[in-house]
Amino acid sequence: MSMFSRRQFLGSMGAMGAAAAYPGAWAASATPSGLSTDEVLRLEAQATGFFNPLRLPGTSGLFGVLPVTDFKEVHVVRSEIEVLPGQRTPVLAYAVESGGKKFLNPALLARQGDQMRVKLINRIDQPTVIHWHGLSVDSRNDGNGLHVVAPGQQMDYAFTVQDRSSMYWYHPHAHGFIPRQAYHGLASLLFVEDEDEATLRKELALALGESEIPLVLQDKEFDAQGRLQYAPSAAQSFGGWVGSRMMVNLTERPVLKAGRRIVRFRLLNGSNARSYRLAFLQQGRALGFYLAGSDGGLLAQPVRIDQTFLSPGQRLDVLVDFREAEGGRPVTLASLPFDPMHQEGGHDMAAMDHSQHGAALGAAAPAAMAMEGDARALMRIDLTATEALYDRRMPTRLSSLAAPVELAGTPRRMQLGHDGKGHWTINGGVFDHAAVPLTVQRGARETWLIENAERSMPHPMHLHGFSFRVLERLGSPDQIRPLAGARGLLPQDLGVVDTLQVWPGESVKIAIDFSHPHTGDQDYVFHCHTLEHAEAGMMMRYAVKA
Ligand code: C2O
Ligand code: CU
Ligand code: CU
Repeated sequence: MSMFSRRQFLGSMGAMGAAAAYPGAWAASATPSGLSTDEVLRLEAQATGFFNPLRLPGTSGLFGVLPVTDFKEVHVVRSEIEVLPGQRTPVLAYAVESGGKKFLNPALLARQGDQMRVKLINRIDQPTVIHWHGLSVDSRNDGNGLHVVAPGQQMDYAFTVQDRSSMYWYHPHAHGFIPRQAYHGLASLLFVEDEDEATLRKELALALGESEIPLVLQDKEFDAQGRLQYAPSAAQSFGGWVGSRMMVNLTERPVLKAGRRIVRFRLLNGSNARSYRLAFLQQGRALGFYLAGSDGGLLAQPVRIDQTFLSPGQRLDVLVDFREAEGGRPVTLASLPFDPMHQEGGHDMAAMDHSQHGAALGAAAPAAMAMEGDARALMRIDLTATEALYDRRMPTRLSSLAAPVELAGTPRRMQLGHDGKGHWTINGGVFDHAAVPLTVQRGARETWLIENAERSMPHPMHLHGFSFRVLERLGSPDQIRPLAGARGLLPQDLGVVDTLQVWPGESVKIAIDFSHPHTGDQDYVFHCHTLEHAEAGMMMRYAVKA
């Protein structure tokens, strides 16, 4: 940690021990654990200078909402968009035309059961492929990178959307190009809707883009001309690239107007390597809010929390009742300070600086340097008047999600580490395109124990092909334990997930059901969603035998 010492940090975390011990029991509107009122007020003060209207999904253009059944082709292109006011930023984007309208990185909309029939056309000078993150599709349609689309070539996707309602996402997956292409713009959302979803929207009178707001969190670096910078040093290629400019839906310093009613936020951490510790702040205190869902859809019931971590690749579905906030005062969505735990053994982390403090940008380095885990305001929310007719209450039931079943027997161990030579490893192995270290049987139910080394970094581990459930978290670090309930589980662990943050020293037990409706053997990957870690070896092929 270079911004403040680890010892100092852990000192300030000591106060967290007093927090309530299980999800659902947090008091509303207290100062968030471990933070002083002054620190919270400083974060809110950062946001008073925010003035850019948050980019929202509209009916066309960037993030335009588009049903998956309404288009036939996605073109991967180079384009330019106004990310920073008044500047044109060259980006990579998914370009789609539908009904005479042009879309860039459309926010896709699917009903459970929809047929996805789409041709990917690669119009850039690098191989690429689309991966539908979180969807349970056969491996040919998964786009896991075992087959890629060469420049000028194309590929047909054809599958049925059969997942629970949730906000999934899509991004490139050609190994060797993933972090760079995702960072330069290739990423967007895919909403799946089912009955539970329709019921919730109706109960709370939610409308996408008005009272239901997707929030894509990313950190970028720009040069003076507004061009995106991605030039990781050797240390950053290993540890992960962290940008100093915080973006929400590609809007820097965003402001959102929201009514004093229940507003739903659907969050994606679309950053290459940065995690966030999210809270809604007002007048020195944290607003209580409700966790409604995780990666793979709605929880059984909403869980009241006052903060949550969000790691690369993960999504959260959150309900905030702004009637609990004071009218006439803004609310700030912020990332609270935390220890990023960049402490892998064999490397001196003080010297191996993953942020932009290093030599990479030299004298031209921006003044406000970022470090993962530093306190940052992300968005200001200006509350408008109470909607007079809005009398909806927080639902007590969201879905019929049952508790996961834990099987007897010894779990399969997945040990996360590194080889001391700049590669991240799973069970001692570095990614090999040609090797399949694990084969499971179709229909098998397995328990995995994912163990992260004590001197390591946090690894958001992502499984392709199958979402899974979290059974138990052991050995969690001091900053995590106070947020956990029974069996060390965090509120977001109560849902269906596809990406699991495993902190240094933690062992997390998960349950995976390898049942699927596809024909034949399937080939998937299991990898860290810190994109640079996956490139540096932390990815493993696995096969599901029919
Ligand atoms: Cu979102 Cu294999 O990744
Ligand atoms: Cu994925
Ligand atoms: Cu990792």
